[in-house]
Amino acid sequence: MNASDMFPEDPKHLLNAANKPSKSTVFVKELSEKDRHRILRHFLGLEESDRLLRFGTYLPDVMIEKYVEGIDFSRDKVFGVISHHFRIVGVGHLAYAPRSDKDEVTDKDKVAEFGVSVSKIARGKGIGSKLFERGAIHCRNDDVDTLYMHCLSSNQTMIHIAKKAGMEIHREYGEADAYLKILPADAVSVLKEAMQEQVATIDYTIKANTRAAAKWLSNLPGMKDSSK
Ligand SMILES: CC(C)(COP(=O)(O)OP(=O)(O)OC[C@H]1O[C@@H](n2cnc3c(N)ncnc32)[C@H](O)[C@@H]1OP(=O)(O)O)[C@@H](O)C(=O)NCCC(=O)NCCS
Repeated sequence: MNASDMFPEDPKHLLNAANKPSKSTVFVKELSEKDRHRILRHFLGLEESDRLLRFGTYLPDVMIEKYVEGIDFSRDKVFGVISHHFRIVGVGHLAYAPRSDKDEVTDKDKVAEFGVSVSKIARGKGIGSKLFERGAIHCRNDDVDTLYMHCLSSNQTMIHIAKKAGMEIHREYGEADAYLKILPADAVSVLKEAMQEQVATIDYTIKANTRAAAKWLSNLPGMKDSSK
């Protein structure tokens, strides 16, 4: 018996009756230094075309490693969605930068740039939308009113997600770069984000403990962990 048999992630469970991916509750959690290696694993799993959409250029593995090594968790916010196997299946990176003098779309001190990716196996279940909403609400609560994204006009999925969240994609700097205007914070947006993070932290802890238990069991005589 394999340890992972006790914690199955049967792909059939991810489909609904119409054979479409089922949209179960998605928990978006703020990630930290201890998640860095799992973040790297997520990015390395993206195929060439996805890396192009996500980064605007095809990044080889060595550049992905540099990018992940360079994430500054004390300055930026990284949000993730974790699978039952405690793997990261979606990452949203909100990188802050001071407003440049040439920036005419905001008068705030800083702007944010958001990049999002979801592992192929986990797409169509609302993960990208939830990561996007979380990035936007965090900007809102952090007094940032302009969110830049690398988003090709052909990236209809991303455009759909932004529209669904009630946001319009503006383009002033060419075909690939876009920005969105974010509403100011209010009590509801602050409370909403805090509650989402609390629930996601509980979910993360349960999954981390389950993973640790599966590892422990796999070390018992006669068990092997095939979930690695
Ligand atoms: C874009 C991306 C993050 C979306 O992730 P996801 O988890 O599949 O997104 P969701 O499931 O939340 O939503 C997808 C939505 O797009 C819709 N969609 C899918 N393909 C579409 C298309 N070609 N045209 C329009 N809408 C489309 C889906 O129907 C769904 O809408 P719904 O929620 O109203 O049903 C993912 O495809 C990805 O990682 N792409 C590569 C990287 C990238 O493009 N990043 C964005 C730029 S930084």
